[in-house]
Amino acid sequence: MRVPLLDLSEQYHALSEEIRLATDEVLASQRFILGPKLVEFEKATAQYCGVPYAIGVSSGTDALLSVLMTLEIGLGDAVITTAYSFFATGGCIARVGATPVFIDIDPDTYNISALELKRYIDKCCHRVEGKLVNENRQTICALVPVHLFGLCCEMIGIGHVAREHDLLVIEDAAQAMGAECPLENGPIKAGTMGDAGCFSFYPSKNLGAAGDAGMVVCQNERFANRMRICRQHGMEARYQHQFIGGNFRLDELQAAILKVKLPHLDGWSAARREAAKFYTNEFRRVGLDEKIKLPVEPYGESGLTNHHIYHQYVICSRRRDELRRHLADHEIETAIYYPLALHEQQCFAYLGYKPGDFPEAERAARESLALPIYPEISREAQQYVLNCVAEFFG
Ligand SMILES: Cc1ncc(COP(=O)(O)O)c(C=O)c1O
Repeated sequence: MRVPLLDLSEQYHALSEEIRLATDEVLASQRFILGPKLVEFEKATAQYCGVPYAIGVSSGTDALLSVLMTLEIGLGDAVITTAYSFFATGGCIARVGATPVFIDIDPDTYNISALELKRYIDKCCHRVEGKLVNENRQTICALVPVHLFGLCCEMIGIGHVAREHDLLVIEDAAQAMGAECPLENGPIKAGTMGDAGCFSFYPSKNLGAAGDAGMVVCQNERFANRMRICRQHGMEARYQHQFIGGNFRLDELQAAILKVKLPHLDGWSAARREAAKFYTNEFRRVGLDEKIKLPVEPYGESGLTNHHIYHQYVICSRRRDELRRHLADHEIETAIYYPLALHEQQCFAYLGYKPGDFPEAERAARESLALPIYPEISREAQQYVLNCVAEFFG
């Protein structure tokens, strides 16, 4: 039996007529950039997230980049983020001229450890003229927590650190649109807890476009206005450039398709959660939780529906590579997110990190394996995956 990592064809067929109507409308209008479909999708996203502003952009990467540019983060600044994420998280910080400062992860959630974050600031930073400065005399101005695999970071702890040190919080919620997190004042959606939230609609995301697309959400009107200017090369009045931005626009065709899909997002995430529950219960039932590390649900008891949206179902094993080969031999597709921690990437060698600096991120890079998961995955396919994993461990 062939089991792909992801198969969205059933999802497309269910919506194909509606999608075609929406895209036909755009084609007939011949309005492809900054038109009514974008406005509609931005409104729907803001409403879905419970924030006043949503600004469509060209990708999740450009969401991060344009937010950093709009906030004027650059040379001499340092931005703290996780050592374990997709490259764009660290890459965008470096692209604006700032220095990425990596922090190790919580091994259970794969998200940045609030404890390690606090430890770094206490040990390596001090205050100079009201600013938080690190050992390299860079001003720490922002935190970029990444809600990896569809699970929110521990935002109560991270929020305390941010408030105590007056740091901006830019959430990389590329993998977590719709995921919820319990905060002191009640539950809140990924992307809406900090100064800006960044989403990716890369096709494989829980809400995926038919190409590249992204979104920035925020609470602050001035920032939202500047973001809209930033995505148009820093231009408000035609050919008058207030600051340097870029072409970060989300086009009408993508907006039209995403608008059709958005009302289904929670249903798809619920189906992923059901599939994850089946894997986890079955792995436990046959005792495989002693051989492999299963995903955790730290907010599972919080009463929140979207406490995890399982963008990925990630297990860990010391025998990861052998297991992966075994599954491939049985036509089961898996993926490694990510084979290197960010500080291990060649392009970040100039930062001077050494092997062993972030042991948990390094271990995750060596041992983590994403199993097939998508809303329409059949229990039969999942049972086959379970049987093949069980067969591997004998
Ligand atoms: C954590 C994270 N950040 C940023 C991005 C960048 O998003 P995009 O691929 O839409 O540029 C991704 C997408 O893969 C991601 O997973």
